[in-house]
Amino acid sequence: MPKKIRLGILGGGGDSLIGVLHRIAAFINDNYEIVGAVFSPEHQESLDFAKEIDIPLNRIYKDFDTLIEEELKLPEDERMQVCSVQTPNFLHFPMAKKLLDNGFHVICEKPMTMNYEEAKILQEAHKKSGKVFALTHTYTGYPMVRQMREMIKAGELGKIHKVDAMYYQGWINPIIHDKEKRSSVWRLDPKKAGISSCMGDIGVHAFNMIEFTTGLKVKSLLCDFNYLYDDNQMDVDGTVLIRMNEHVKGVIRSSQVATGEENRLAIAIYGEKGAFRWEQERPNFLYRMSDTEPTQIYKPGHAYNSELSLDGTKLPPGHPEGIFDSMANIYKGAAKAIRGEKYNDGEFPTMQDGVRGMNFIENTVASHKQGNVWVEMD
Ligand SMILES: NC(=O)c1ccc[n+]([C@@H]2O[C@H](COP(=O)([O-])OP(=O)(O)OC[C@H]3O[C@@H](n4cnc5c(N)ncnc54)[C@H](O)[C@@H]3O)[C@@H](O)[C@H]2O)c1
Repeated sequence: MPKKIRLGILGGGGDSLIGVLHRIAAFINDNYEIVGAVFSPEHQESLDFAKEIDIPLNRIYKDFDTLIEEELKLPEDERMQVCSVQTPNFLHFPMAKKLLDNGFHVICEKPMTMNYEEAKILQEAHKKSGKVFALTHTYTGYPMVRQMREMIKAGELGKIHKVDAMYYQGWINPIIHDKEKRSSVWRLDPKKAGISSCMGDIGVHAFNMIEFTTGLKVKSLLCDFNYLYDDNQMDVDGTVLIRMNEHVKGVIRSSQVATGEENRLAIAIYGEKGAFRWEQERPNFLYRMSDTEPTQIYKPGHAYNSELSLDGTKLPPGHPEGIFDSMANIYKGAAKAIRGEKYNDGEFPTMQDGVRGMNFIENTVASHKQGNVWVEMD
């Protein structure tokens, strides 16, 4: 096993939602060790959390700028190689850009930036840097999502007729109906979240899944948002009609007010020779449907799966793997790229996915604001 990759963490403190997923995912395939961090804007909180999870305190910095400054003073073979950005959205761009400009690889949470313009600037910085950039669209790491992609690529569905992706949650219900509460959540604050809440936070995952699995691109879209209250500037629900290349049409539905829903990301791809259906809450079952044959269920770890899918399972069939493993697969792909090893297209979402995602989010807002009209993607 080559030496572990030296990983720094930004955000993802003890109070965060996503930090634990990244930390465990980074350890799962034995590729990384955490050597330093800024877990929180409060230095003491960062230090306390580092103690709690037993990371040496000498590289827990007071803020991000200090992290870069101090790390650059270290010999190259001690310095962090990659930083994982797990902060609220408004910090992704300044952090990722400065990291790339200073020669660090980056693993970054979605949405990649606050807007499309920043995304294009980051893309240029990435090109110049020659470093690895991985975007954590977590769900692309599931073995059955990878399998769907590979079978569609091999032409198993024939011509695609229709795509349908939904991402429904209900978590914002107890917040949105209370004026005080809704002004205290960063996901509803445009200065911290960007121009969209629901579409930017979860609709963009559904968008990414459609392009990831079909290999097609969304060309134009028409969006209808729901804000529920006049004083709320951020969408909490949205439906998007899409037109892709090869005359494929479809729909992306996303909601944070779908009462009782937890994390219902589901995708269906219908083609002339068959269809696939996959749901995140039951990730180890990929349904292959037909008009003439009984429905088949594909499962992870079996030899009939593609190389890309099998690379994402660690145990024999029947041992369920889940969200931690899915994120771990993205970290594994990024580790191969950082070490300069060979890796398959699709092992981790890239800068290009981030740019597409920001173009999508911005166009959904433009379409809604212009009166629910069709707008063209780049
Ligand atoms: N890939 C996924 O499936 C997925 C799921 C959830 C969240 N996310 C993304 O992850 C990001 C974080 O979301 P979350 O729900 O964990 O947020 P959160 O509010 O729960 O946690 C944010 C963390 O960032 C820290 N932080 C804030 N400002 C900081 C600063 N200046 N320096 C260092 N740390 C700072 C906070 O202390 C906290 O620990 C968001 O961009 C979100 O869109 C992605």
